[in-house]
Amino acid sequence: MSKTRVLTGITTTGTPHLGNYVGAIRPAVAASRSPDVESYYFMADYHALIKCDDPARIARSRLEIAATWLACGLDPETVYFYRQSDIPEIPELTWLLTCVTAKGLMNRAHAYKASVDANTAAGEDPDAGVTMGLYSYPILMAADILMFNAHKVPVGRDQIQHIEMARDVGARFNHLFGAGRDYFTLPEAATEESVATLPGLDGRKMSKSYDNTVPLFDGGAKKLKETIARIVTDSRLPGEAKDPDSTALMPIFTAFAEPAETAEFRAALADGLGWGDAKQRVFERLERDIAPMRARYEELIAQPGRIEDILQAGAQRARGIAAPFLAELRSAVGLRDFRTDAAKAKTAETAKAAKPQFKQYRENDGRFYFKLVDAEQRLLLQSTGFDSPKLAGQRIAELRAAATFAAADDCALAEGVGADEVERALAELQ
Ligand code: TRP
Repeated sequence: MSKTRVLTGITTTGTPHLGNYVGAIRPAVAASRSPDVESYYFMADYHALIKCDDPARIARSRLEIAATWLACGLDPETVYFYRQSDIPEIPELTWLLTCVTAKGLMNRAHAYKASVDANTAAGEDPDAGVTMGLYSYPILMAADILMFNAHKVPVGRDQIQHIEMARDVGARFNHLFGAGRDYFTLPEAATEESVATLPGLDGRKMSKSYDNTVPLFDGGAKKLKETIARIVTDSRLPGEAKDPDSTALMPIFTAFAEPAETAEFRAALADGLGWGDAKQRVFERLERDIAPMRARYEELIAQPGRIEDILQAGAQRARGIAAPFLAELRSAVGLRDFRTDAAKAKTAETAKAAKPQFKQYRENDGRFYFKLVDAEQRLLLQSTGFDSPKLAGQRIAELRAAATFAAADDCALAEGVGADEVERALAELQ
């Protein structure tokens, strides 16, 4: 049975935080170890350019994100791990897809519509600040996915529409150019209902846009401890019973702990554990998991050349799939090597010739003849001379119609040929 191909892109803006780890990185690394899947993880750095025009931040973020995924246990030998921008076939495919994507479909993309709505509300030109990159974002994403014929794409809910668009565009291409073959597998979004969304410092979802994140590796153990200390709690004093569900401490602890540890922590809070001590326990529990990964992260970040080598090797492997597939797609739309096209036409001719044939001709005696040859041009039947091409043609028509052969004055079996062979040849001409 062939494996399920799972593909996901990581936009390289920002620095990974605890919410990214629990919600995306950890489950993805675990899933990539399943023997039934073939995983593709890539850095969507072309997508990052759409959102960010600060080269230093782009450069830093893609290095940090690569190091983070490797430090968290992604094995570049078992998964395809690469940078989108190292696969030139992706922008090439983007163009092929752009040419079959309805503009109206892109008009409906949520991200684009949100910009238009905001502009309209502000009394601005509807397209103010909208680049073609933002507008075409879903086509580039469709190319990411269709290039590797992914079956499943794990994404957050905000990305489901993009997967549907990838299906639309892929289906359109199949319809236009497939000629009975589906070039593209139509992908499905995989959204985990149970996917852990971690609360941030203030209890709202942990997100860069709320400025309430706990960094994963950035700033080391010291920063982790300091940030945990800033998690909002109520003002109950040590010794007072606490509601464990009144603070983000509990879900953050739970995301790392075993059920027994969680139960114990809950009980301690209800029992009057002070918030300061509680925060220390959370820090220590997280640190148990994070410290070894952070050590690997720091080692990697200190050797950017090693990460570069890993990603280039990953790109090479991915291109091993992308390049031959793109060649087929180019050919499907008509961008073909002229020699291949000419050779194809020739093969078609040979195929036509690979059948028995009647051949009519005129001899030096001025009379008209025909012969029947088989697919290999071996002579089966030879006529005598007719007075006109029309008479020869009539005799051929008769033979074809009857599809049987009896010895006659006007044509004879070639030497070593049986009537049954002639009849088989005539049958083939029916
Ligand atoms: N748009 C995705 C996001 O913002 C990132 C992404 C780019 C992606 N290409 C992809 C995700 C392909 C899945 C598949 O999260």
